[in-house]
Amino acid sequence: MSTFSAVDVIGAKRNGDELSDEAISWVLGAYQRGEVAEEQMSALLMAIYFQGLGERELGTWTDQMIASGERLDLRGLSRPTVDKHSTGGVGDKISLILAPLVAACGAAVPQLSGRGLGHTGGTLDKLESIPGWRAALSNDEIRAQLESVGAVICAAGQGLAPVDRRLYALRDVTSTVESIPLISSSIMSKKIAEGTQALVLDVKVGRGAFIKTIERAQELATTMVGLGTNHGVATVAQLTAMNQPLGEAVGNALEVIESVQVLQGGGPRDVRELTLALATTMLELVDIEQDPATKLDDGSAYEVYRAMIEAQGGDADVVLAASKLHEVIEADDEGVVTRVDALRVGVCAWRLGAGRARKEDAVSAGAGVMCRVREGDHVAKGQPLFEIYADDESHLRQGRETIRDAFTLNGEPSNVMPLLLETITS
Ligand code: URA
Repeated sequence: MSTFSAVDVIGAKRNGDELSDEAISWVLGAYQRGEVAEEQMSALLMAIYFQGLGERELGTWTDQMIASGERLDLRGLSRPTVDKHSTGGVGDKISLILAPLVAACGAAVPQLSGRGLGHTGGTLDKLESIPGWRAALSNDEIRAQLESVGAVICAAGQGLAPVDRRLYALRDVTSTVESIPLISSSIMSKKIAEGTQALVLDVKVGRGAFIKTIERAQELATTMVGLGTNHGVATVAQLTAMNQPLGEAVGNALEVIESVQVLQGGGPRDVRELTLALATTMLELVDIEQDPATKLDDGSAYEVYRAMIEAQGGDADVVLAASKLHEVIEADDEGVVTRVDALRVGVCAWRLGAGRARKEDAVSAGAGVMCRVREGDHVAKGQPLFEIYADDESHLRQGRETIRDAFTLNGEPSNVMPLLLETITS
């Protein structure tokens, strides 16, 4: 017979009391066993949303989420392991370039990723635009590929932190997603269970990110770095700007095409700059002295990318293409582009068919937006600002309507944030 009751635990947190380690372990364990009802967990999440969790409570909460499932054992690989997690942005294709790049420098990169929901794209959706590529790998396959290729991007298995899956779904429908302890424990439990030795967090800030202010991003980053460090994962966070999309391409195949350009030493400057900054930090964390820029420029990162795609059944030689229906959005005046809104561009790509509204929806490989201008650019009348792509007229029309809200010409000059904002270490 348990000495705890869900009603008491909820009441204690509602009143702002600290929960004991035993109470936290009990409530999450009992929830997983089906002994605490969904409505009781909803109330507890709302109490945590308002009252927060102290450092000890958060550590125990995270431990219990990790213990709810399996932990990947990546010890014994011949290379040190290091991963990157991004809190999500528009045009954020960095993982596709970073994983093979850091592997080309001598580390092993286990990127267990997700699919997109809403306006931010998912890494798996992007790679699935490559014919034959397979997202689901067994733990043995992940280990073997890390040893042979050095990089894996695949779906996080159902066995990692399974209680997070249920809590996340519940948070989604109870308006309790935006809580720093709940976000931190959700992200970090999965990353710690994945078994990486080191982790770089790319915490996005701005219009296209779910964190809008530097102060909130600092708080989230500091909390996640603390959790990683306390669990023996060397963790650093990089705060980066997400007011305008990253690079030009927003959409699944479009982003793969742009990633390959960067892997071949070209591509948009901001994508290359952020990739190199994150790669440098990842390599520092595992004591590898290599200049990652040389591995982009000499083609070795691209070779690892090809091996990574082929190891998962993908045909790296297939030339990917944008959707057939195409429209160019031109400047109706000359002047300065004062706003390119990442959130609106993300919504536009989603409406064009690149994203999904429900988990079970299919996504279009070729739909999306190419952003031909950035904030501060001078444009002539008639100059292309965006190109939009869709598989059918109805999606193209929805995209056309949305893209009009995604930019301003000759408005108030906006304060262009530098891409790399701040690094947070333990
Ligand atoms: N991503 C996660 O995995 N969990 C959150 O709570 C937020 C973003």
